[in-house]
Amino acid sequence: MELVPRVPSAPRWPLLLPLLLGLSAGAAIDWPTEEGKEAWDYVTVRKDAHMFWWLYYSTNPCKNFSELPLVMWLQGGPGGSSTGFGNFEEIGPLSSNLKPRNTTWLQSASLLFVDNPVGTGFSYVNDSNAYAKDLATVASDMMVLLKAFFSSHKDFQTVPFYIFSESYGGKMAAGISLELYKAVQQGTIKCNFSGVALGDSWISPVDSVMSWGPYLYSMSLLDDKGLAEVSNVAERVLDAINKEQYKEATQLWEEAEMVIEKNTDGVNFYNILTKSTPTSAMESGLEFLRSHLVRLCQRHVRHLEGDTLSQLMNGPIRKKLKIIPEDISWGAQSPKVFMNMEEDFMKPVVSIVDELLEAGVNVTVYNGQLDLIVDTMGQEAWLRKLTWPGLSKFSQLKWKALYSNPKSLETSAFVKAYKNLAFYWILRAGHMVPSDQGDMALKMMRLVTQQE
Ligand SMILES: *[C@@H]1O[C@H](CO)[C@@H](O)[C@H](O)[C@H]1NC(C)=O
Ligand SMILES: *[C@@H]1O[C@H](CO)[C@@H](O)[C@H](O)[C@H]1NC(C)=O
Ligand SMILES: *[C@@H]1O[C@H](CO)[C@@H](O)[C@H](O)[C@H]1NC(C)=O
Ligand SMILES: *[C@@H]1O[C@H](CO)[C@@H](O)[C@H](O)[C@H]1NC(C)=O
Ligand SMILES: *[C@@H]1O[C@H](CO)[C@@H](O)[C@H](O)[C@H]1NC(C)=O
Repeated sequence: MELVPRVPSAPRWPLLLPLLLGLSAGAAIDWPTEEGKEAWDYVTVRKDAHMFWWLYYSTNPCKNFSELPLVMWLQGGPGGSSTGFGNFEEIGPLSSNLKPRNTTWLQSASLLFVDNPVGTGFSYVNDSNAYAKDLATVASDMMVLLKAFFSSHKDFQTVPFYIFSESYGGKMAAGISLELYKAVQQGTIKCNFSGVALGDSWISPVDSVMSWGPYLYSMSLLDDKGLAEVSNVAERVLDAINKEQYKEATQLWEEAEMVIEKNTDGVNFYNILTKSTPTSAMESGLEFLRSHLVRLCQRHVRHLEGDTLSQLMNGPIRKKLKIIPEDISWGAQSPKVFMNMEEDFMKPVVSIVDELLEAGVNVTVYNGQLDLIVDTMGQEAWLRKLTWPGLSKFSQLKWKALYSNPKSLETSAFVKAYKNLAFYWILRAGHMVPSDQGDMALKMMRLVTQQE
């Protein structure tokens, strides 16, 4: 998920972590009996910057892992943890209650979760100057990690490698994919890079913000007056971005959210049909830190009442992993991760997607119908800005309906693909597509990785 917004100057949730640690100490775990092969480690990607990764070998009963793709999952934020949220709340083998997940992607791929940028999840920095401040650093850090990973896991060098992402993770995935493509060409990283999938991705922030009003209006979540207010603040965001005043754009973005919150009686930015932010998102600490006092208060009270994912990661999981430094808490540095990327946050990366398409990299865009923060209209808007020559042919195509299982009559998605660009409209899903529509998300992953 999970654009974590600018954090007020004194971020409060890290202070809660020692408490949570106390609560979770000695928690009993019931590990499911069937565990597949796993591996994890740190890679020092720069001086004072240590990145954590966690690999699960596919558990497909009929196929060896070497016959299935490897999927790297990148969470958003920046500051959201792939090893925590993506793994336990979206696509990994177990839920945050350690119950098996029926729709885990592990049945059709091996999964690599990486906590990036450094400072996210179990990744950490030793010096506050070591946080990444821009996408270029995020991408070059990941190149160091992937080079180390593929050198030490040679079995995976020939396995098709795909990057899937969500939210801000999509922006990072675009930048990382371009660098990875170059590294593979130059022979500096040995891997079978086969494509990137951008889920509810922060590719062009201004196109998201500009479509918030019309989208909400069409869904009966704004009246004329509200639409005028939202459009007004959106125009100011546009103006700031046109002037390349990115910090100001980030502040105005927050303001736009508050205008929406006020006019919609507090719509959930991650799924417009559910009133409050899903508890899981709140708990993971990845939700927008609203400057709104009431919201903040709610968040913190909830944190104190119980934070399943944080307790899991800081309790049983760190015990299992054994290599997490004693003074590092899962997620404790993530507000700093966001703050350090503030300047970069509102910058678009449409031109990077263009470069990927030009280079022949397979690019998939997928988006949840009920997502507001990165709504589908906004994705279509930046897509129209591509200079890729295939765009006009792509646009002329008709979409095709998809069903998550052959017996179902209920349409689950629409898809359109031309050459190396594909777009999936995922119905009845919000921002966290695999959480909301697990069957369809799994099917889409299998389609993207050429398994169906
Ligand atoms: C699975 O593939 C790996 C790498 O190719 C190989 O070393 C291993 O023996 C295979 N395992 C089985 C059960 O075939
Ligand atoms: C998972 O699949 C099993 C077997 O098909 C089914 O009984 C169970 O209800 C499913 N669980 C969920 C959460 O859908
Ligand atoms: C870096 O930080 C980790 C975690 O806080 C700590 O265990 C380690 O000793 C530190 N290393 C240096 C060189 O300061
Ligand atoms: C990459 O994966 C594809 C699909 O499995 C395979 O055909 C191809 O030979 C692989 N390429 C390399 C360089 O390993
Ligand atoms: C890339 O996409 C094209 C068009 O859908 C497909 O034919 C090709 O197999 C894909 N390549 C990989 C490596 O997924």
